[in-house]
Amino acid sequence: MTVTSVSPTRSVLADCVRSATTAPSLHNSQPWLFRIRGSAVEVYADPGRRLQVLDTDGREQLISVGAAVFTLRLALRRAGYASDAALFPRPDDPDLVAVVTATHSAMVTSGVEALAAAIPRRHTSRWPFARTSVPADVLDHLRDAARWESTVLAEAGPAARDAILHLARSADHLLHARPGYRDEIARWTGGGLRHDGVPGWAVGPGDGLERVPIRNFAELSPLPRPSEKFEPNPTILVLATAGDRRCDWVRAGQALQRVLLAATWKGLAATPISQPVEVPAMRRLLIDPRAGLTVQMVLRIGYGTQAGRTPRRPLSDVLLPLPHASRGRAVM
Ligand SMILES: Cc1cc2nc3c(=O)[nH]c(=O)nc-3n(C[C@H](O)[C@H](O)[C@H](O)COP(=O)(O)O)c2cc1C
Repeated sequence: MTVTSVSPTRSVLADCVRSATTAPSLHNSQPWLFRIRGSAVEVYADPGRRLQVLDTDGREQLISVGAAVFTLRLALRRAGYASDAALFPRPDDPDLVAVVTATHSAMVTSGVEALAAAIPRRHTSRWPFARTSVPADVLDHLRDAARWESTVLAEAGPAARDAILHLARSADHLLHARPGYRDEIARWTGGGLRHDGVPGWAVGPGDGLERVPIRNFAELSPLPRPSEKFEPNPTILVLATAGDRRCDWVRAGQALQRVLLAATWKGLAATPISQPVEVPAMRRLLIDPRAGLTVQMVLRIGYGTQAGRTPRRPLSDVLLPLPHASRGRAVM
């Protein structure tokens, strides 16, 4: 265990920002920007990186930014600092999503070490998982991770799972009919030298059993999509929040990343299945209205092969300089 007594240096904060950029984001759009100011990091949503067709209200952008905020907090904690995250602290600047401030030194516990060790290893897997169920204590661990971030994570029972998969397949068809949907996917897919988007190797096969609707990122490819049989009864989790405002979306993103990192720690692979949450009429059907909750994410988890890490933009692309007026002040 280590304890640190001084404020984090700019270089420690920059390392934490680099960790934050490994967070998951819709189509790997990496829709975030950061500014280091003293012992705080400002986290911005980058309006130019919101997916205009799929994410009309910016909900999934803020979930993505929330995932980066959680990763930043965890990286700081791993570096020996407790932090405070103020969400939307300036009403006149709606793109400023959070200010994460290192408040005091804190013990690095074994739990923090284990969760932080998952940061570089976490990734989305779009391949078939083993036909093995996830043990109850592991599911409890994931539920606790969501609860720590003021959200609710529930496992769908067999009937709910089948209903959610059915809704997801229907939503996938509806999204394909949305003007611009396929072109938008194509814009965020590919490979080559780009530092964002979903590379070809991460796309994965279609489900030969036509049950698990993994989003097809190779829509416009001239090659036929390979097909493999996925596990017929996947473990499906639903992440929900009490409200459905912008701060709830950021909270959902923080919870999403905490759950995904806990899953990675426990040896699980995961795939978000967002199509049913992206069609408002379907989203309402994902949860019993009596629960008083709104679904933010649907996840498939299981034991599967490692897929690999997708690219990220370099720090120089996401780190904003200090505005002129603040430059004279010490930032170390
Ligand atoms: C809000 C949100 C929604 C997502 N929805 C899907 C989805 O529907 N299908 C999918 O395959 N991946 C989905 N993802 C995963 C992203 O595509 C993935 O995080 C991104 O490509 C970066 O890859 P990585 O997770 O391997 O780092 C989603 C991620 C986020 C944050």
